[in-house]
Amino acid sequence: MSDEFEIARTKAAALTKEINAHNHRYYVLDDPTVPDGEYDRLLVALQAIETQFPELVSPTSPTQRVGAAPAAGFPVVTHALPMLSLGNAFSDEELERFVVRIGERLGAVEIKDLVFSAEPKLDGAAVSMMYVDGMLERAATRGDGVHGEDITHNVRTIRSVPLTLTGADIPDRLEVRGEIFMPKAGFIAYNERAEATGEKPFVNPRNAAAGSLRQLDPALTARRPLDMYCYAAGLVEGGTLPTTHTDTLAKLASWGLKTNPEVRPVTGAEGCIEYYQALEQRRAGLPYEIDGVVFKVDAFDLQETLGNVSRAPRWAIARKFPAEEAVTVVRAIEWQVGRTGAVTPVARLEPVFVGGVTVSNATLHNIDELQRKDIRPGDSVTIRRAGDVIPEIVGSILERRPSGAEPVALPSVCPVCGSPVERIGDESVARCIGGPLVCTAQRVEGLKHFSSRKAMDIEGLGSKLIEQLAQDRVSSPADLYRLTAEELAQLDRMAEKSAKNVIAAIDKSKQTTLPRFLFALGIRDVGETTAESLAMHFGSIEALLAADEAALIDVEDVGPVVAKRVLSFFGNPDMQVLIRELRALGIVWPEIDTTADESDHDHFFSGKTVVLTGTLSTLNRTEASARIKRLGGKVTSSVTSKTDLLVAGEKAGSKLQKAQNLEIEVIDEETLIRIFDES
Ligand code: IVH
Repeated sequence: MSDEFEIARTKAAALTKEINAHNHRYYVLDDPTVPDGEYDRLLVALQAIETQFPELVSPTSPTQRVGAAPAAGFPVVTHALPMLSLGNAFSDEELERFVVRIGERLGAVEIKDLVFSAEPKLDGAAVSMMYVDGMLERAATRGDGVHGEDITHNVRTIRSVPLTLTGADIPDRLEVRGEIFMPKAGFIAYNERAEATGEKPFVNPRNAAAGSLRQLDPALTARRPLDMYCYAAGLVEGGTLPTTHTDTLAKLASWGLKTNPEVRPVTGAEGCIEYYQALEQRRAGLPYEIDGVVFKVDAFDLQETLGNVSRAPRWAIARKFPAEEAVTVVRAIEWQVGRTGAVTPVARLEPVFVGGVTVSNATLHNIDELQRKDIRPGDSVTIRRAGDVIPEIVGSILERRPSGAEPVALPSVCPVCGSPVERIGDESVARCIGGPLVCTAQRVEGLKHFSSRKAMDIEGLGSKLIEQLAQDRVSSPADLYRLTAEELAQLDRMAEKSAKNVIAAIDKSKQTTLPRFLFALGIRDVGETTAESLAMHFGSIEALLAADEAALIDVEDVGPVVAKRVLSFFGNPDMQVLIRELRALGIVWPEIDTTADESDHDHFFSGKTVVLTGTLSTLNRTEASARIKRLGGKVTSSVTSKTDLLVAGEKAGSKLQKAQNLEIEVIDEETLIRIFDES
């Protein structure tokens, strides 16, 4: 035997062992340690070896079965018709090729007119339900597609599964297939409860659904918030179904079965791609997890002509969203110093493609989180990036931790300026006590914040330029207004023309608003919304400077913590000097009419608590919240049960989801503008 063969044999054996271990954790324990993408990668690697050396394929190789055999404890069910799986497409091109292939096979059919049923690919567990004379007789898992487990007792506990069908023309025997899933809200609530009672939380809603269905005690399943959508019929005897898939789903719905309201007929590859993109946009706001879109040729006669390849139909495909979880290696853990001196750990990663982008850094937020997650340099970690949110390290894969990987400790001195790093009381954040005058990192971050779009909005003053200036020439925001074009032009890579532009932008920023100015000062815990509330309440900086704790707490959105921050900020003589300097250098804002803040009971938003989220494209946030307040509303920053209305701009994320979960009214920017116009 050749060396190459021996190496392949060893590799295949190692992969087989690893895949089998993951299989056990996934299917039997419902507790996977690696994301699906990583599992798929191992399987693909084994398949590649087996393709090259077919002698290595054994009947027990993990590549030889899809899914898992029934677990002990559940009677085995042989499916009347096999439950197929789906081929995948990971790009628009692959999807187009799928459509072209179908066109070639169907010959006479014009592919641009071909109708597909487009539907969310739910991330749960497949189920087959047999209705005899309209009564639920048996429910089974998909298992390996041929044999599944009898989970009738557990499925009966799911409220959205009808135990009897109602309506006309119900076939004598009807097999309905669908996906059982745990809605996001139920999953979150379940895990919160589990954490409180010391039980083990589920890693994701899919495992939660699969694990719940395979409880031996149906009473336990009944307590899990499970739901179901039907996506196909299987065996039909003693009756008939319509001739298309979408009509069949409508028929199933008419008999009381639950079908997904997002299912829609679309035409041609173009229609498929449009649907995919639109659903991807709305994914975060859907009340359940989906991992892609399924496209099925709608006409049953065409499905039959196309037939199946091994265990997947030629007439359907799953267009998958980019994987939201991936595994990579932590190269190093470094400490970053922020505007307020907060020293936060950041993991430098081997670049990895996840959630549609390449990720090479991930924050670990604070030392407590770093210790709780116990992430060490050299660790293999699971990275998650869902939707537009910042990438997060889910955790280390302990089985892969290299020997000698040591935890990192909080540095005792600032990595940038060398000042001591302190933790005050039980605060989770450690801070460099250097302050912006001593610590360049704090100075740079403070200046970046000061000039940012939502603060003083100094266009053209980019990070690189700020870093250069903060080295010597600019030690406080006031120094920005003392810069001259000649000085700037002397810097590296700075032409006279751009120097002039920067000075013009700095000059322009002098005409600002009080909310922007307050936000720009960078008072801890005073974000855009709070700055706005403070400005509208006090009307002038003098009144704000004179306010005591009680007066501050009176302001919307301000509690004892923020009040303390504001007092200590304005009590600092350096800050008083800075404010005086800035005003002397020409920073001005229009006066504010504080009487507009009084709630007037005749206005549209009277007595309503409103939250703004996402990007508003026509109005800016400051303007929108000022107008809402003028109409009697209260604007706060987080969605709670007290919120009456959410205004969701583009790319709204978690706040939108939370509002939907709490069944809070949601309006878009257009509607908000209409309300303003009509009020
Ligand atoms: S149709 C012949 N439709 O995806 C087609 N499957 O990879 C069989 N799934 O086991 C499936 N949502 O659990 C279909 N709208 C949907 C689906 C869906 C989720 C799951 C199902 C199946 C797996 C196939």
